[in-house]
Amino acid sequence: MSAGLYVGLMSGTSLDGVDAVLADFSGPRPKLQADAHRPFPDELRRELLALNSAGGNEIERAARAGTALAGVYADAVAGVLANSGVTAASVQAIGCHGQTVRHRPDAGFTVQLGNPALLAELSGIRVVADFRSRDLAAGGQGAPLVPAFHAAVFASAAEERIVLNLGGIANLSILRPAREAIGFDSGPGNCLLDLWAARHLGHPYDEAGGWAAGALPIAALLERLLAEPYFSAAPPKSTGRDLFNEDWLLAKLAGGEDAQAVQATLVELTARSIADAARRHGPSARRVIACGGGTRNLELMRRLQALLAPAVLEPSDAHGIDPQLVEAAAFAWLAMRALEGAAGNLPAVTGARGPRVLGAIYPA
Ligand SMILES: Nc1ncnc2c1ncn2[C@@H]1O[C@H](COP(=O)(O)OP(=O)(O)O)[C@@H](O)[C@H]1O
Ligand SMILES: [Mg+2]
Repeated sequence: MSAGLYVGLMSGTSLDGVDAVLADFSGPRPKLQADAHRPFPDELRRELLALNSAGGNEIERAARAGTALAGVYADAVAGVLANSGVTAASVQAIGCHGQTVRHRPDAGFTVQLGNPALLAELSGIRVVADFRSRDLAAGGQGAPLVPAFHAAVFASAAEERIVLNLGGIANLSILRPAREAIGFDSGPGNCLLDLWAARHLGHPYDEAGGWAAGALPIAALLERLLAEPYFSAAPPKSTGRDLFNEDWLLAKLAGGEDAQAVQATLVELTARSIADAARRHGPSARRVIACGGGTRNLELMRRLQALLAPAVLEPSDAHGIDPQLVEAAAFAWLAMRALEGAAGNLPAVTGARGPRVLGAIYPA
């Protein structure tokens, strides 16, 4: 067995599909050997979206969706193994985040679907899953969990840095030399942009932000959106589709707004809420390292760079990791931590009572 080979699987709130990466952690810096992406079939995407809100026969539907997810996850694992030429037997474990359908830290629970037992059976590889529950059990938010990995790979002894993940939800890790990292969800990443684009363009996202770029934000609407109390709440905090969903947005519209101008407003909301949080919690940072699919939204990146200046905004490939693979690599790393019996959470980030070993292990 190679000592340090792990597969990470991340499927986030965007519901675009799963990102898989094969990471080698045996050296001083992680080496990503191969990756694969598997989009969700439309029917599964619709069902996962529906399962984010209360509905009928949820227990059975959630179980069936979990089983379908395990099939897509196993296919993504087979993809990274094929792309790398590595065998299942050489992989220590799969770190599988699963698909969040509820995130309710206030009520003491979070739910990620994915049937890890079936994934272990299909892949022949040990699976570590359910990373968030233990942190919640210890009084934490169970999120975000990626800051520990961000600190391990992107921190610098010479300067304060921010790692910004632009997934469905946006989260920030503030990495300060010789101090504990902090981190939190700032609010929406792509989720509002995607749902508005789907509604008006019939496409899952606004390609490169081109539609938003053709209109100006609506000032009054922006103000109503920015008044959301979540934005000014102090960390620890985490959020999801439980809050930032279509109902939330529709309730803020006066009616009759131009759809394209709403999209421009949502870009501005996303950029403003992130930049405000960065300024408040990482005022000395002069470098913001961006990852996640939102880095491909050039209009969002343009507005972020303008609002974050004089800090520079740079995609994570400038630091050796493809922006689309950072979160998957983080769950590979968290699986390694679980097998080592090492803590995966940062109590200063999640608010947990202390460091905890995260995850449930499903043997191969
Ligand atoms: N070419 C693109 N133009 C605009 N947005 C994009 C593009 N490619 C990806 N995205 C955005 O990235 C999202 C996926 O990002 P990802 O990091 O996988 O998020 P999550 O972790 O929530 O799944 C898509 O839903 C979309 O909003
Ligand atoms: Mg994704």
